[in-house]
Amino acid sequence: MKAISIGLLGLGTVGSGVVQIIESHQDKLMHQVGCSISIKKILVNDMTKERLVAVDKGMLTDNPEDILSNPEIDVVIEVMGGIEETRGYLMEAIKNKKHIVTANKDLMALYGPELLELATENQCDLFYEASVAGGIPILRGLVDGLSSDRITKMMGIVNGTTNFILTKMSKEGRAYDDVLKEAQELGFAEADPTADVGGLDAARKMAILSTLGFSMNIGLNDVEVQGITEISEEDLRYSKKLGYTMKLIGVASRAGDRVEVSVQPALLPEAHPLASVNNEYNAVYVYGEAVGETMFYGPGAGSLPTATAVVSDMVTVIKNMRLGVNGRSAVSPQFRNN
Ligand SMILES: NC(=O)c1ccc[n+]([C@@H]2O[C@H](COP(=O)([O-])OP(=O)(O)OC[C@H]3O[C@@H](n4cnc5c(N)ncnc54)[C@H](OP(=O)(O)O)[C@@H]3O)[C@@H](O)[C@H]2O)c1
Repeated sequence: MKAISIGLLGLGTVGSGVVQIIESHQDKLMHQVGCSISIKKILVNDMTKERLVAVDKGMLTDNPEDILSNPEIDVVIEVMGGIEETRGYLMEAIKNKKHIVTANKDLMALYGPELLELATENQCDLFYEASVAGGIPILRGLVDGLSSDRITKMMGIVNGTTNFILTKMSKEGRAYDDVLKEAQELGFAEADPTADVGGLDAARKMAILSTLGFSMNIGLNDVEVQGITEISEEDLRYSKKLGYTMKLIGVASRAGDRVEVSVQPALLPEAHPLASVNNEYNAVYVYGEAVGETMFYGPGAGSLPTATAVVSDMVTVIKNMRLGVNGRSAVSPQFRNN
């Protein structure tokens, strides 16, 4: 097969990890897909900025058309973030028959079904493993590993920032504002942490997880959301005394032919497997009728963990190209959430 050319949208935290993995794992990747893979163009905002990885300056562009309508590019990897503008870019790329890999949960929670439909119409793949729980292969776990089972409930710690804050408050008896500041200094929290601490980020991920796990279109409006901003050190001290650990938990469960999804601070008995998921780590606990209890655990963010999920999606796209089956793996939802 001919060499595969990649267009990368974004060269920040995740984009730099993608460049690093494609370069340093080239032998293994070539062995898996049977051809070489090269990054042709990288879209950035600021062409003069110092980069976290060494890239040939000629590869950088600030003109999206150099990627979206470039006939040489086979796969577009979107790691720039954003919603409306990014949606437009991906729609254009798909119409130009490019396969897509994205890490963007904001976009997928809002426009996932529409983009997947467009991709299928154009015989293109669209994969988004990195959009939920970074390096943990949870979407593939649901879609492939547990495809034969009927999932009844999922519980997830899917936001590293809030888990870091609650862990530090609980274990070190520190105040919310103090720990939030540390999380920002360590790069675990954004300068504007509203989407994380308000529960919106976790709600987006629970919408994506529930859509796949229950084969229903679950939108953000279907998720009841409460964040951690009202939690005090005192709440955590008392819960600890009573043998409980406070976590921001996303829960999605079947209730008859409906699925109820929520994100809220919850008290877990200390023996519960999710109670020992600490700091910035993520975990998703899945109950299936046949399999029983399973738990997926690992780094929910970070440059290389997230890039691992992105590059693994890219490998699947290229394997599908070899088999000529692109655009055939997205299964449309089987049920409606009444
Ligand atoms: N960081 C994580 O651990 C993590 C984990 C899971 C998922 N994600 C998702 O991955 C995506 C990227 O996150 P990140 O942390 O890598 O972001 P980031 O560090 O802020 O990097 C974003 C990159 O995209 C470029 N960019 C942004 N808007 C652009 C525009 N309109 N035109 C051209 N270039 C643009 C930026 O260019 P400049 O460098 O020139 O400014 C930068 O290189 C997001 O959707 C995020 O939710 C991130």
